Amino acid sequence: MVDTNDEWIVSRTGISERAIADKGVGASDLGAAASEIALKNASMDASELDAILCATCTPDMSIPGAAALIQHKLGVENVMSLDLNAACSGFVYGMDVAEGLLASGRYKNILLASSEKFSSVVNYKDRSTCILFGDGAGSVILSSEPGGAKLKSINTGANGSLSHLLHRPAGGSANPIQEEPAHEDLFIQMEGKEVFKHAVRSMGESVEKAIEGAGWKADEVDWLIPHQANKRLIKAAADRIGLDEQKVLVNIEKYGNMSAASIPVVMSEFQDRFKKGDKILCVAFGAGFTWGGLAIEW
Ligand code: ACO
Repeated sequence: MVDTNDEWIVSRTGISERAIADKGVGASDLGAAASEIALKNASMDASELDAILCATCTPDMSIPGAAALIQHKLGVENVMSLDLNAACSGFVYGMDVAEGLLASGRYKNILLASSEKFSSVVNYKDRSTCILFGDGAGSVILSSEPGGAKLKSINTGANGSLSHLLHRPAGGSANPIQEEPAHEDLFIQMEGKEVFKHAVRSMGESVEKAIEGAGWKADEVDWLIPHQANKRLIKAAADRIGLDEQKVLVNIEKYGNMSAASIPVVMSEFQDRFKKGDKILCVAFGAGFTWGGLAIEW
């Protein structure tokens, strides 16, 4: 499709394969499938949920949100259902919102589905982006009941003045499709080098804040789960706290960048390695710009 080659892609990004969902499949289908697995692993019925959050920037359609569609696909009704768009930082932002809802005392069991069909917004004529993104979903359940992993600290940040460096300019209210925008504006556009620079700085700061907020020392961290955007970015985030390569969990080679879904999919795939009490950091960066970090005691 474009002038590229495997050597360039693997050496610059670490990506070997990606999954692309079928035509007609939406983010809510992927999110519902991941959520069914999460419910099963938690030995919980969907009827026990009292809120459904969906972190996505590629919802099935702009109206209604994907969370309401996930609710229906899980066979429940009358449950608060809300989409969150913080692009690749969606999982960390979703955790922050879910934690706030739990703290209000009005919710007990919250499903956070992070789900993206990024292939729907990728321009397969743009070699600087089309080699990066894949589709996928990961879900977690947050509960006020004790017994599971504990959220020890969370931080989030944003800088909207840099939104033009990573955006999909058309298809929203400012540049609607009825006005026939330029074809390339219907797809994600990215100033990769600039994004890289900001991502290194913000992810580094978020990781440090998450450690400090949890009251840990850097050498006590057992695992780092970074957003899977680029292998070199992941290394930069780990180097910032001097973390050993073996402690940095990576699956970018199989899936590419799945935006909000990247972190929970890594968490799911590597969970057999985690022991009770392990200190785990997650860190993300995405369009907005948005970023955030969290510390979990497994
Ligand atoms: N194949 C071959 N050559 C390519 C390709 C490709 N697929 N893509 C770009 N090139 C070329 C460029 O045209 C350029 O050529 P030139 O020197 O003749 O002008 C050269 O390779 C170098 O391009 P750079 O953009 O400088 O390459 P870089 O090493 O920066 O890698 C990349 C690009 C992989 C996109 C990197 O910048 C990156 O990963 N950035 C961060 C992405 C990120 O973190 N995104 C955040 C989350 S995404 C979200 O929120 C939706």
